Amino acid sequence: MALFNPKVFLTLTEGKLEGTEIKQSYKYLNALAGVFKNETARAEMDQDALIYEVQAYMPVEEGKSGGLFFGNSTIYPGKVDQEYFMTRGHFHSNFDTAEYYWGVKGEGYLILMDENRKIWAEKMTPGSVHYIPGKVAHRVANTGSEPLVFNACWPSDAGHDYESIAEHGFSARLLEVDGEPKLVEE
Ligand code: 6PG
Ligand code: NI
Repeated sequence: MALFNPKVFLTLTEGKLEGTEIKQSYKYLNALAGVFKNETARAEMDQDALIYEVQAYMPVEEGKSGGLFFGNSTIYPGKVDQEYFMTRGHFHSNFDTAEYYWGVKGEGYLILMDENRKIWAEKMTPGSVHYIPGKVAHRVANTGSEPLVFNACWPSDAGHDYESIAEHGFSARLLEVDGEPKLVEE
């Protein structure tokens, strides 16, 4: 019987994935037009600033049912005006598919919005575990001064629906108000 070394390695303290099959993507400020409340402020900032990056291990074809994907996201600290750097956020296109997130480094909030636009946020810290039910849009904001790192696991047929967020947004935004994060209704 053969013995194998793992193809993918997760550095537990950093949450980073290592291995030749890992896909890596980078999101710079210039790709986030219209995402933040104050678009004028966003447009005046350094467009080459790296806001977040994502690693994904996709051992089966994307869209195939029955598989699971594993990821790492790192959101850098910063704000556009009062609004913390954050991911675009999405519903899954295969609407009723769930996902796990868990915090590895840094601090922030997982912002969740259901199909009726009811919105809430869960504090993310190293070790916090978050179950994202199906039909719930999700986005993460970094409220700290260090990179916020989390891992995720989601079904291989979940997909990403960015269009409905681009069109309707989330129903509230995480803003710094009097030095504290506050979920402010749109
Ligand atoms: C997913 C996960 C996660 C997410 C990243 C980046 O469904 O794949 O929720 O990997 O994609 O954190 O966030 P955006 O996809 O919203 O840009
Ligand atoms: Ni997702």
